[in-house]
Amino acid sequence: MFRNTLVTGGAGFVGSTLALALKSRHADMQVVAFDNLHRRGSELSLARLRAGGVRFVHGDIRIPEDVPAAGPFDLLLDCSAEPSVLAGIGESPAYVTQTNLLGTLNCLEAARRHSACLLFLSTSRVYPIEPMRRIPLVEDESRFEIDGARCEGPGLSAAGIAEDFPLTGARSIYGTTKLASELFAIEYADSYGVPAIIDRCGVLTGPWQMGKVDQGIVVHWVASHFFGRPLRYIGYGGSGKQVRDILHVDDLVALVERQLKVLPSAHGEIYNVGGGRSCSVSLRELTGLCQRATGKTVEIQPVAEVRAADIPVYLSNTERVRRAFDWAPAYTPEPIVTQIAQWVSQHAAELEAVTG
Ligand SMILES: NC(=O)c1ccc[n+]([C@@H]2O[C@H](COP(=O)([O-])OP(=O)(O)OC[C@H]3O[C@@H](n4cnc5c(N)ncnc54)[C@H](O)[C@@H]3O)[C@@H](O)[C@H]2O)c1
Repeated sequence: MFRNTLVTGGAGFVGSTLALALKSRHADMQVVAFDNLHRRGSELSLARLRAGGVRFVHGDIRIPEDVPAAGPFDLLLDCSAEPSVLAGIGESPAYVTQTNLLGTLNCLEAARRHSACLLFLSTSRVYPIEPMRRIPLVEDESRFEIDGARCEGPGLSAAGIAEDFPLTGARSIYGTTKLASELFAIEYADSYGVPAIIDRCGVLTGPWQMGKVDQGIVVHWVASHFFGRPLRYIGYGGSGKQVRDILHVDDLVALVERQLKVLPSAHGEIYNVGGGRSCSVSLRELTGLCQRATGKTVEIQPVAEVRAADIPVYLSNTERVRRAFDWAPAYTPEPIVTQIAQWVSQHAAELEAVTG
């Protein structure tokens, strides 16, 4: 097992959860959480990290010297990013490209110099938007479904998007920074022998996600119900039938534990990681779950116009990752929403300002 783990983005939702989980499961492992606290709410992780024995280092992956200065490490979990697909839309792309692409390059270079292994958290947003908008759908009372009978071409079935879905087309600035980073991770694996695994994640969620309207939709929806804030069904006629698979972050932790066992001999393998069809929700369905979990109903305004970079359905086809790691998500949507509602209720004073 690894002795020194550096988690970039270690005060963020995924980074802090992974850092604390690794430290609690491997007492001998030194775990450093590295973060510039760019995301509002990440500062709330600092007390949790300290209590869990994880050292926090304030640093910025955009600064090449900052990452290696965080100390020796033999494992780098790259969870630092501007994670919103809306980043750079209608605004300068500087922060998202400098962090998600140049920052990742700095992380890769630090991994090369430290002879460390890399786990890179990528995104389903590497798949291009227009082809995903053309996926054949059927509509039922509460959601859109992929019409398996009309699916054509590689990487597409009723089970969702697989890794061989074609990559030609625009995918948002965010998705482009992540795809470019994947390509560099694969080059570093090939040219410099930096062992690497790439997880293309769909929607991740769970407690300690600072959900906002542009990212972290499940927590945003639950918190909005809890705090009585109005919501909007944006796009697709305002029907709220758009669908995502969701993965509880603890299920991701279970997968990462399995991946770390083979990481030293990995060569940049790519896996679609998500809850899959059996752990998916439409916004309408999520509303019902939130109403049950919080006992509250909020006003939801329909907005017909589709938002930039939005797609009606994304389901991760997780067959490859399930087979490779004998892994399957344990959570289904209802317990996820119930758990998040309890967490919001327990931390309402801190969360009211940083969610939404
Ligand atoms: N949450 C999801 O649904 C989801 C889905 C797919 C992929 N991902 C990927 O997972 C990773 C973690 O996402 P998350 O949900 O924890 O996001 P998050 O915003 O909660 O965490 C990211 C952390 O990175 C930090 N950060 C941002 N810029 C930085 C910089 N220049 N230097 C150092 N730290 C910086 C932020 O302060 C934040 O704490 C990201 O790479 C994201 O692209 C997340």
